[in-house]
Parts: sequence; C-alpha cells; structure tokens
Amino acid sequence: MRRIDAIEPFRVMQLLERGRELEATGRTIIHMEIGEPDFPTPAPVIRAAHHALDELGQFYTPSTGLPALQQALADWYAREYGVRVDAGRILVTPGTSGAFSMLYAVLLEAGESVLLPDPGYPCQRNFVRLAGGEPVNAPVGPESGYHLSAGHLQRHWREGMRAAVVINPGNPTGTLVDEDQLTALARACRERGCTLISDEIYHGLTYGAKPPTALAFDDEAIVVNGFSKRWAMTGWRVGWVVVPERLVDACRRVMQNIFIAAPTLSQHAALAALEADAEVEAMRRAYDERRRFLLEALPPLGFDIVVEPRGAFYIYANVARLTDDSRAFCWRMLEEAGVAVTPGEDFGAHRAAEHVRFSYATGLEALQEGVRRIAAWLGRP
Ligand SMILES: Cc1ncc(COP(=O)(O)O)c(C=O)c1O
Repeated sequence: MRRIDAIEPFRVMQLLERGRELEATGRTIIHMEIGEPDFPTPAPVIRAAHHALDELGQFYTPSTGLPALQQALADWYAREYGVRVDAGRILVTPGTSGAFSMLYAVLLEAGESVLLPDPGYPCQRNFVRLAGGEPVNAPVGPESGYHLSAGHLQRHWREGMRAAVVINPGNPTGTLVDEDQLTALARACRERGCTLISDEIYHGLTYGAKPPTALAFDDEAIVVNGFSKRWAMTGWRVGWVVVPERLVDACRRVMQNIFIAAPTLSQHAALAALEADAEVEAMRRAYDERRRFLLEALPPLGFDIVVEPRGAFYIYANVARLTDDSRAFCWRMLEEAGVAVTPGEDFGAHRAAEHVRFSYATGLEALQEGVRRIAAWLGRP
C-alpha cells in the first residue's frame, strides 16, 4: 500500500457538511460536533494585528519564530508554571499541526513507531504515517483517565518506538492525566530512550486545578502548544513546541525547508495574546458553565460520563444504553433531531461504536435547545 492510501479523511467533516445541507433547506441544526472555539479572537489581539499590518513589515521571520515571541513564551512559562525554559528551545510553528509534522520528520526513521492513545486526536496517526512511521494505538479507558500510562508503554513496547503522546486535557475525552501517572510515564519513556510528547493545546481551558506542564516532570519532554484553543485563534495558524536543546538544530533545518516560518502577522498577534488573561478567563468561565449544564443534562438521557471531563470543551459519553452503533446513531440524530455530535469512530477503534463526543464550543442556549431535541427524539421529555 502506498503511504498516502493509509491517510484517513476526517469523518466528522461529512457530518458537518450534511448539517450545512440541511441548514440550506431552512432547518436549524445544533452543532455539537465542532472542536473549534465559538468565540471571536480577543479584541487586544485584533488590535495588535492591525498595528502590525499598518506599521510593521510582513517579511519572513526567522524560521524558529520572532525572537520577541520566543522570549515572551519563555517568560510565560515562568509566570504560568514556574518553569524555566530557555527561549532558544521554543520554536514557533504554523499551528500545533505544523509542530507535529515537523517533529515526526525529525524523530522518525522509516518503520519507527509512536505510541498513541485510542481514542485520541485522529490527525496524530496520520502525521506519524506521513513521516514514514507507524502509529501504535494503545486502547485506553476510564482506568487510566483515557490517557497513556507506564503500563501501556510496557505492554505495547517494541524496538524502534521513538515517542509516546499524551494529550492533556484530552481530545475527545476532556479528561486530565493524573500527575503520578504522568511522572511514571515520563520515567518509563526515559528508561527506554523514547521521548514523551505532551500536547498541551487545551491548557488554560481547565475547570478546577490547573495541570502542570510536562516540562515540570521531565526536562527532556517535548511540549506542543498553540494559540488556537485557549486564545480562540484557530485561523491564525500559530503554535509552538518546546524541544530539548539537542534537537533544536534538526528542527530548525526541517522548519526552514517545509514552511520557512509561521505567519508573521499571526506571530505579532500572538505576542498580544499572551497578555490577554482577562479575555481568556471570560471564555473559560463560559465553557465551564456549559460543561456543568451538559454534565447534569446528559446522564438522565442515557449518556454515561464515566470520568469527569475537567478540560478542553469535550464530553466523551458512553451510549451503550442507547445503541450498539454510534455512527448510525449520530447520523439518525442529525437527520431526525437536527443535532450534530461526533461518533467515536473518528477518534480510533477502541469501543468506538459505544461512544460519542459532545463539543460545547457552542453557546449555552443552543446547548439547551440541543438537549431538549435529544430528549424529545429519545422519547424522554
Ligand atoms: C489535541 C489537539 N492537538 C492539536 C490540534 C490542532 O491545532 P492547531 O490549530 O494548533 O493546528 C487540535 C485541534 O483540534 C487538537 O484537538
């Protein structure tokens, strides 16, 4: 099979497109399938971008990013987590997606592998495949908070495994990884010469205790983060990755070749985002209100939420009491109730037919209407 043939489409897009078709016929659809903030980018960020357009040139920046942004991110790590990171280890990328495609090109030789959680963020598998590597999917469940543990690394270990990925808080589950579990996983990775990669893109959107960065446990970990979610900046395409010093030069060479640099305008905007704490806090509170509403409303309808989601804007619900085919269930719910949620199969194979993901990146009133519709559709008014 050719490498490209293994690249899967993002199936939720089909559901989204069908929803848009139904809207074009005059129906209203409640969108709980989309993993994108519904808030506009904070006003100070937009103002900074206007200023950059008017006053600053839009030339390429250095491949590793605007030095002022690298330094501002280093200061942010000190402020946010109390962790010292050398600015030179922070590489600015076109979204975290840019960071991942660059990283796997640096880390993997053909046939080498990466351990991923199943369910997990689906693009990960495809990034690994595009770099010629093999994704190894470890089924994860409520026992480990839907995250990888040292036990998973041991069970799935094979020669040539170069990295293990933790998405914290998780997509699709919204769950946080337990700190002891993360420490043990980091230690197990180090012992085997495999790199812990922590995707922290949903940090800042947590409801309760703030999770520490993996850098606090493991200075050799690779931490990926970005402006898309916490700062509601999906379309600006800017993220970053913190890598160990020994990888900086290889990463820079790959970045110079595959994207030259992240968008200059977006990097200036990102500098302002790092100061927009009040705006982020307002969004976080709104998400939390929505989360609490759904956590109360969904279980009586038959959606079982086994581990409380304390981050991101997702709820991963077990629908075994309602169906044994979550894909058909989601399609029927869209056609018949006008509510879109994502079937488990988008996130992997492990017990996928028993699960769906709700996204609450949608206003509270829409969520309330969605719940009313689902209740009526299931005959539980
Ligand atoms: C866990 C996770 N990582 C990375 C990304 C990609 O984000 P970006 O916009 O920074 O490329 C997403 C987007 O949904 C995500 O859920």
